[in-house]
Amino acid sequence: MKAHRVSSGLKTWAAILMGGAAVAVLVAARPFPARSQGVRPSDSPRTAHAEVDGLALTPPMGWYPWNIFGEEPQNEKLIKEIVDALVASGMKEAGYAYVGPDEGVCFSRGADGKLMSNLDRYPSGLRGLGDFIHAKGLKYALYTDAGTKTCSGAMPGTKDREFEDMRAFADWRADYIKIDWCNSFGQVIADTYSLLAKAQRAAGRPVVHSLCSWGDGYPWVWAGAIGHLWRTTADICAPWKADWSRAMRITFANEKLHAFAGPGRWNDPDMMIVGMPGMSEAQNRSLFSLWCMMASPLMAGNDLRGMDRSTVEILTNLEAIAVDQDPLGAQGRVIWNDGNVSLWAGKPLFDGSLAVLVLYQGRHSAEKKIYWEELGLAASDELYVRNLWTHETSGPHAGSFTVSAGPDDVAFLRLAKKNDFPIPPIVVVDSCLISLRATSSRPDTLKATVTVTNKGSSDLPPWRVDPKSLPPWLSVAAGVGGKAQSFVNTVSTAGLKKGRYHALVRADNVEPVSGKPMSALYYDVDLEVARNVRR
Ligand code: GLA
Repeated sequence: MKAHRVSSGLKTWAAILMGGAAVAVLVAARPFPARSQGVRPSDSPRTAHAEVDGLALTPPMGWYPWNIFGEEPQNEKLIKEIVDALVASGMKEAGYAYVGPDEGVCFSRGADGKLMSNLDRYPSGLRGLGDFIHAKGLKYALYTDAGTKTCSGAMPGTKDREFEDMRAFADWRADYIKIDWCNSFGQVIADTYSLLAKAQRAAGRPVVHSLCSWGDGYPWVWAGAIGHLWRTTADICAPWKADWSRAMRITFANEKLHAFAGPGRWNDPDMMIVGMPGMSEAQNRSLFSLWCMMASPLMAGNDLRGMDRSTVEILTNLEAIAVDQDPLGAQGRVIWNDGNVSLWAGKPLFDGSLAVLVLYQGRHSAEKKIYWEELGLAASDELYVRNLWTHETSGPHAGSFTVSAGPDDVAFLRLAKKNDFPIPPIVVVDSCLISLRATSSRPDTLKATVTVTNKGSSDLPPWRVDPKSLPPWLSVAAGVGGKAQSFVNTVSTAGLKKGRYHALVRADNVEPVSGKPMSALYYDVDLEVARNVRR
């Protein structure tokens, strides 16, 4: 991968920044601190964060509580119920992985200055919740703030405690940290988030770094070097209250930033409102399609317990998710808009096909004729058209194709020269936590397997685990290529002293059609040795 130079192309930055300023003003809802102070892209590291840790090379998928719950009801029981619902509903099998509490009084700062779990709300502690989530084959997301306090003031922020707090998050085994920007008056935004990234690296556990400054400080310009995603706008809704027109304003603000997105660096228009009360089926379908078209993080924001069938079908539509999770990572954009109907393109996919979307915002049904030439194709091209919602293919069609949609609805299509619409890798893991216990003082060999299944179309090549990255007591054999692959973990206890041991295993792979690197896969191995073991 090429290094992402944040300081290059200043003219283009300037042009897009002007658009960005408009974006930030348009949707600001919270009382923001002074904006855009001291952004100094040239001070940022030159290498995209994701190139080092291999995380989030496609947009992260998961669930966060804020949109539907706000702060109050969040506790361990609720998060565990949501985790179970995420698995039972089929969302895990569709690629959703990151889950955990948002602002919701889950930790406080002790007298010694260290963060401690709120055991009233989280009786297993935040590490215990993380273990539960990991054991389900999911990834653990936590929340904090870059200022002195979180937004409601209920939890401490990280200011001046960056290194010890990121260490606490690593001890809790967070895989994803959303970092808000409340109560940050006087702080220099790029410096603050860069310091947090440094603290995360120093803590030694790679995490998805999700910046949440609502577009403040234009993070799309500089944050690719220090994080994986950044909110581009204010909140999509107040807790409980889905707001369709606000969601549309946010969509079009986020759309303007398409040039900044790419593998490992994503514009984040906020958690989704799909399935929230007040949303129609058409609006759910449209919002989901737009998020996929914009290569947005797919963080569900609804209550996953007791979803209706249509919401589940929308959130787990693998053909739509395939567009979002495309390895090329292009963010689609509007190429034509008459105020009622917008045509979205600019999203080439890994197999040479194209994603195309028509959004209809008028009051009555409408038709739109899509000409191949406006998509940059030859009029004479004969293309198959796949409807990603009806799952039907028609064609080949030469020159154009006409779609119709009702109010607030979309047509979401994939166009290809061949009648073949492969799904890129969607990787599902049976467990992200291996816990082993050795009780004998005689040398022993313990084995545990992690199974990884690709829901995409291709067989994957074998995963690569660098043996040098493992401690001497652990070896990992990644199985052959294919759809379901296994990692056999072998622990040799010979010579180990009584105690607890831990390893974080990293495995890398490439998507075989495009040759693009896939997000690295991480899992934890815990070993408890009950007594000293002879050599
Ligand atoms: C900010 C964020 C929200 C949520 C709340 C919590 O508004 O943008 O997503 O995390 O804080 O207070």
